Amino acid sequence: MQRTTYNPLARFLHWSIFLLVAIGLPIGLIMVERDFNPVTNVLYTVHWSIGLTVLLLMVVRIVVRIVAPPPKPARVLTGAQRMVSSIVHIGLYVMLIVAPVLGWLGKSAYGASPEGISVFYLFHVPVLLEKNEDLAETLLFYHGVAVRIFLAFLALHLAGAFYHGVIARDGVVGRMGIGRRVAEPEA
Ligand code: HEM
Ligand code: HEM
Repeated sequence: MQRTTYNPLARFLHWSIFLLVAIGLPIGLIMVERDFNPVTNVLYTVHWSIGLTVLLLMVVRIVVRIVAPPPKPARVLTGAQRMVSSIVHIGLYVMLIVAPVLGWLGKSAYGASPEGISVFYLFHVPVLLEKNEDLAETLLFYHGVAVRIFLAFLALHLAGAFYHGVIARDGVVGRMGIGRRVAEPEA
């Protein structure tokens, strides 16, 4: 019998990234609506620190996926469901790289301290571009667009998780470590 669940490291990365996005994304939405004051500044720093951590973990995740490939698609899935879930997964991977990179580029062009961009007030990452406010505005606009495309893929992903976990209860969500797992003999 081949493995039918994602390996522990893949599961750990999936849920860590989920947690970071669940905290960092709403902070992004809130901070841009606030007046500038010291609390807003902290929110910005926490926001991009979480975003850069997501970017790092996404790179690790892609390496892990190459080194230890995921299990074959669940056998209960139809051909069309397999295709849609693959497209959604690729969309999630791509947007969780593109969005933070655009944020990093945008913040770089916006300007930072001479040491670079502070990460959790612990260390700095380098700026990637010269200061240029017009470019910063454009890049941060597309950062917001990328996040919204990500959210569209996430909505499909969550709809799939809801269907498999609550309606069909077919053990598919167990592959990522939650709820019931169904042992699947390989064909
Ligand atoms: C997966 C990671 C990230 C997510 C999900 C995310 C999400 C968001 C969201 C939802 C907003 C509000 C945008 C709007 O309402 O139009 C935002 C704004 C912002 N993000 Fe991110 N972000 C991420 C990573 C980053 C990174 C890595 C940086 C910088 C290094 C960054 C810098 C910014 C900045 C500077 C803004 C303010 C833009 C403005 O003032 O218009 N973000 N982000
Ligand atoms: C920020 C939120 C989330 C992101 C970015 C995300 C991303 C992903 C990605 C990229 C994959 C494909 C993994 C691979 O094949 O390498 C995946 C798989 C999976 N995710 Fe999520 N996910 C999120 C939230 C959730 C939630 C809330 C649930 C369940 C309640 C969930 C359940 C699953 C399951 C069950 C799989 C495995 C699907 C399969 O059998 O192939 N995810 N997720």
